[in-house]
This record gives sequence, C-alpha cells and structure tokens, in this order.
Amino acid sequence: MKLAVIQGDGIGREVIPAALSVLDAFGLEIEKVPLDIGYGKWERTGSALTDEDMDIIKECDCVLFGAITTPPDPNYKSVLMRLRKELDLYANIRPFSPLKKVKLPCNTKEFDFVVVRENTEGMYSGIEELHDDVAYTTRVITRKGSERIAKRACILASKRKKQITIVHKANVLKSDSFFRNVCTGVAKRNGISYSEMLVDAMAYDLILNPQKYDVIVTTNLFGDILSDEAAALVGGIGLCPSANIGDRYALFEPIHGSAPDIASKGIANPIAAILSVKMMLEWMGRTEEALSIGRAVDSVLQQSIITPDLGGSYSTKNVSDAITGLV
Ligand code: NAI
Ligand code: MG
Repeated sequence: MKLAVIQGDGIGREVIPAALSVLDAFGLEIEKVPLDIGYGKWERTGSALTDEDMDIIKECDCVLFGAITTPPDPNYKSVLMRLRKELDLYANIRPFSPLKKVKLPCNTKEFDFVVVRENTEGMYSGIEELHDDVAYTTRVITRKGSERIAKRACILASKRKKQITIVHKANVLKSDSFFRNVCTGVAKRNGISYSEMLVDAMAYDLILNPQKYDVIVTTNLFGDILSDEAAALVGGIGLCPSANIGDRYALFEPIHGSAPDIASKGIANPIAAILSVKMMLEWMGRTEEALSIGRAVDSVLQQSIITPDLGGSYSTKNVSDAITGLV
C-alpha cells in the first residue's frame, strides 16, 4: 500500500505528523510518499500543485491530506477540488456522532449519522463565467454522478439502518428533482427505504432532531454546508474526519482548514486527523486497527487529555502520544 502524505499548511503540518505517529504504532506495511503541496509552494513557485505532483499521487493508492491555506490570488484553483476531480473521488463521507465527554451545543445526546455528499459535480462543476455586471456558475447534475453517489449511500445504509434521507431543493430546482428521482430509483432497486428533506428544512431539523437521521445523501454544495453544520453538533471542527472515496483512489482529511490563528503553537486538536486515519484503515480493510483507534480516542477524551479548543491545556503531541500509547 502506497500513501501520499500532504501535510499542507498551518496546522496541517502539526496534525498530520500526529496522526502518522498513531498509524506508525501498528507497524503496517505502508509506504509513505511525502509531497510538498500548498501555499508555501505557491509562494515559491506560483503553483500549489504541479502536474508532476499529480503523477506521483496517481502512483499511490490513497492520500492523507492536512489542509491548505487558500492563496490570495483570484485565479487560484483549489488543490482539493483538483484532487477530487482528477482522482474521481466522487463520494465525500463524513460521520457524525458524539464523542466521550465532549460538551455538545444541543440537548440531544444520542445521534449517529453520516453525510454522503456528491463530490465532483453540482455547484462545484467549475463551469463559471465572470462578466462586468453578471456572473454565472453552472450546476451540473448527471445521471452517472447521482447514481453512483446514491449507490454509495445505499451500500453504507445496508450496513446500518437500511434507510437513507435524500436532501434536495426539488421544489425549486429542476436539477434537484432529477437528482431526487435518480436517488429514489437506486434506493428502490437496492431495497433501501428512503425519505426526503428539502435542504433548508434539513438545516433546521438537523440541529433540533439529529437522532432522526442515519445516512444523508445530497449534492455537492448542500453537503458541504450541512456537514459543517453537523461538525458544530459534535462540539468542534477539530474532532471531525472525512473520507473522499472513488473507485480507484481515496483521500482522507480532517474537515478543518489550516487554522492560521493557532498554527505553530502546538495546540491544534489532532483528533480529526487521527480519526481520518481511522477511516483510512477501514477503507484498507484494517477493521481491528480502526476499532483500536476509536477506543483509544474515547479513552483519552474520557481522561480529559484534551487540547484548548475542548477546554483543556494539553498539546497536540500530548494528545497524539496518549492515543499512540493506547492503540
Ligand atoms: P479553519 O477550519 O482553518 O479554522 C476555523 C476555526 O476553527 C479557527 O478558529 C481555528 O483555530 C479552529 N480550528 C480548526 N481546526 C482546529 C483544530 N484541529 N484544533 C483546534 N482548533 C481548530 O477555517 P478558516 O479559518 O475558515 O480557514 C483557514 C484557512 O484554511 C483558509 O485559507 C481556508 O481557505 C483554508 N481551508 C482549507 C481547507 C482544506 O484544505 N481542506 C478547509 C477549510 C479551510
Ligand atoms: Mg467545506
């Protein structure tokens, strides 16, 4: 197994080494390929990600990604968007459930849902026009894109409660009634029951009744927004991992950014990156190791070995050392 490692910028340079120290504890045969990609490289070379970098990444099986600071250049093209498109990482999967002892902002203490977001088209299709007095972004929803994301959601649901919630805005957008119809067809063919929610109602209900949901499937922009909302539900962006999965490659990343406000202080919460490694191990079929990370994270949270974002005074390294010692 070959793993491309992109620490990126800011706290990416702190949480990815922390997560790798946990991975290394298992002594698995994983060849790590470090790549210098991001804002630092853009400043030096004018390019955050080169074609040569892409070639090296395509020789790997998967990617562990930290975060990249967006350069102040109106023509900058997002590295993550390019990786998602070129590696065809069409399913963005973000699980959300409360972690031990973490204070929740809502009253509901029991929930466990996954946002399955289409990751390659929709509002982020990249088809845009900027004129003096008008700007256009074309939202592309294809049958292929909708079918494969619905299929992913159904596969996930088949291992859980066998139900999906399709989130859309079909009352206004024709592209969304198309998405909805494709999804319902896939659910029926796969014997998965489905319900539907309009995205605005969903944004509201997710805060009030997160326990009602299990597998949520939606388009790119809606999934982007709902999954950040869901991160607030679990008590912090420093806790939330994600997987970007395609048929050939996969990329795992904490959902947070490079957090320049706390970078270089050694206080970033490494748990989102460590749980991203957990998702990577699940993808590799390393169930035991993945479960072991989950138990170790629960245990350090239980012992209140936590970084300042969760009200503690431990460092990034203290937390990752504690987790590494338990896996
Ligand atoms: P951010 O996620 O970097 O930070 C938001 C807030 O959460 C900050 O107060 C930060 O200190 C805190 N935070 C984030 N991760 C944390 C962690 N692990 N532990 C403790 N606190 C944490 O989002 P922001 O500030 O909007 O973006 C900063 C830069 O990162 C921008 O240049 C943005 O474009 C980029 N970004 C990159 C992403 C990626 O590469 N995947 C995703 C989101 C933002
Ligand atoms: Mg986002």
